[in-house]
Amino acid sequence: MFNPDSLPHYDPAEDRKVAVITGGNSGIGWYTVLHLYMHGFVVYICGRNSNRVNEAIKELKTEAAKRISKRGKDSLKIHLGSLHYLHNDLSDLKCVERAASKICKKEEKLDVLINNAATVALPYELTKDNFEIQLQTNYIAHFLLSIRLLPLLQKARGRLITLTSVCHQLEFRYWGLGQDWNYEPNMIFTWLRYAMAKTASIQFTKMMAIKYPEVLCLSIHPGMVMSTHIFSYWTRLPIVGIFFWMLFQIVGLFLGVSNEQGSLATVRCALSPQLNTERDNGKYFTTGGVESKPSYIANNLDDAASTWIWTVHALRDRGFKV
Ligand SMILES: NC(=O)c1ccc[n+]([C@@H]2O[C@H](COP(=O)([O-])OP(=O)(O)OC[C@H]3O[C@@H](n4cnc5c(N)ncnc54)[C@H](OP(=O)(O)O)[C@@H]3O)[C@@H](O)[C@H]2O)c1
Repeated sequence: MFNPDSLPHYDPAEDRKVAVITGGNSGIGWYTVLHLYMHGFVVYICGRNSNRVNEAIKELKTEAAKRISKRGKDSLKIHLGSLHYLHNDLSDLKCVERAASKICKKEEKLDVLINNAATVALPYELTKDNFEIQLQTNYIAHFLLSIRLLPLLQKARGRLITLTSVCHQLEFRYWGLGQDWNYEPNMIFTWLRYAMAKTASIQFTKMMAIKYPEVLCLSIHPGMVMSTHIFSYWTRLPIVGIFFWMLFQIVGLFLGVSNEQGSLATVRCALSPQLNTERDNGKYFTTGGVESKPSYIANNLDDAASTWIWTVHALRDRGFKV
């Protein structure tokens, strides 16, 4: 794993760097925010619950202070950025638009947008925008947020980073997003819905890289990070929850990485001067920021274009101008 200290540090008084992240109040997102904050970024943490995000902000400040005090002389190069809560419930697309327009009013440019939030393996449910819950939270809402923030990203020649998952590989042939996989048992079909949303996220990243080459667009599988909240639907199930909890602990023991290690791919993609638009646009990275290849389906540009067109129509049908 690389050392995030090797990445550039900014002084917000001299060089204001702005980042927006969804789901920055827990898990991988929490550590991503910590590193951005400790590299001098103004970070907007999008979340759906003000208590949870404000609590996370307090903990992040305490953790940053603790790490700085341990460094002694070495702490001089660190200028802390600032942390801000932004209400953004991804299961409500009007709320996503409101969050984007607040950023556009407050900031002239955006250096990094991190589409990190997700829900995993939930039972089939439709949002009030009439999309399947995982498809909307993991993909559609991030599509809309990214398009609304695109002018700010273009101004900064910034970076667009989307968290996806190795589970996207479960999409073994192109399904098209009209396929809702509303079948039982949930334990199987929910993973196909998750895979579809995560494949669409990689396709979206590739399309953005082609359409807007001045913005560096990257997608990431962070690693198997079993101590985040991502599997809490399963571990909180009555009786069988304990079985799932044990299963995830065992997987974590043999294949997993810590929450902080899970954040490193994102941190590297957000900050590394070694990555650039000419050589790296549209690429896929895995744990720790190692370049990798997504599935054949996710890599196929014809399928990516179909996903893009489907999404644009689906949003227009619901009254969103894209
Ligand atoms: N953990 C892994 O092993 C793993 C593996 C592959 C990929 N990933 C990807 O890594 C990313 C981060 O996951 P994580 O493991 O850190 O999970 P996590 O701890 O559960 O964090 C998910 C975040 O998403 C937020 N979120 C969920 N639904 C939302 C909504 N409707 N509106 C706004 N925010 C919402 C959650 O907010 P609340 O606190 O309000 O619920 C939370 O902050 C995800 O994209 C995930 O798919 C994780």
